Amino acid sequence: MSSGDRKHASGGAVTVSRMRAMKREGQPLVCLTAYDYGFAAACERAGVDLLLVGDSLGMVVQGHETTLPVTVDDIVYHTRCVARACRRALVVADLPFMSHTDVEQGLHNAGRLMKEGGARMVKLEGGSEQTALVERLAQNGIPVCGHLGLKPQQVHKLGGYRVQGREQADAERMEADARALEAAGADLLILECVPAPLARQLSEQLSIPVVGIGAGADCDGQILVLHDVLGVTEQPPRFARAFGAETGSVQAALAAYAAAVRDGTFPGPEHGFEA
Ligand code: KIV
Repeated sequence: MSSGDRKHASGGAVTVSRMRAMKREGQPLVCLTAYDYGFAAACERAGVDLLLVGDSLGMVVQGHETTLPVTVDDIVYHTRCVARACRRALVVADLPFMSHTDVEQGLHNAGRLMKEGGARMVKLEGGSEQTALVERLAQNGIPVCGHLGLKPQQVHKLGGYRVQGREQADAERMEADARALEAAGADLLILECVPAPLARQLSEQLSIPVVGIGAGADCDGQILVLHDVLGVTEQPPRFARAFGAETGSVQAALAAYAAAVRDGTFPGPEHGFEA
């Protein structure tokens, strides 16, 4: 075990088993995206539990219209920057568009995110079609976060960024996908833009923690894009809250976000979607 690993293995670092315990104890998971050392360090100081190096970096850092142009090299680079700042927070790295079109490619690229980037978990969009990869990652000791609901890598197929799971058939498919991911060995699930009652039902049914973004207050945790929290996004999504505009500094905004998730005042009903 390297000294870096020892630091993470002790001192209250957030781990997969710690997150499960938090779910059981009803302690909300405070999660944010991060892309560089400085902001990741500020998130650490604010007590954020999990930092996702999301492919949203394609939009908020690189200025693309979608997440599709993001490469594995991009995610490795930004994960390295974030991981250097993290002692307690769990660092999760996204598998970008077309980086896991088959199990071998997905295993190879997830390995890069862990070995070169220093991630402690990888995230992938999709449900039942991803279970072979999730199983293989789990067999190789790679923790996995699934991502259901609005899947931004499929924006062109979906025809836009829309709430998912409003129709009964879609909701049933999402429930089957969530169960399949858990059975395959996923450790965490993100639900994006899902009606609040459906997100609540899935959070209750699964034993792995469910983290919502635009999915109502009754998930096991919340995640937002850092730029939306700080108030630097030109047109933030309806489900976000710009804590930066309400407080005087980056550090105060991050602390206010963490406190609001923990005391249940964020998200409010105005940040969610009904069925
Ligand atoms: O890429 C990303 O930042 C994400 C979050 C919005 C959950 O997937």
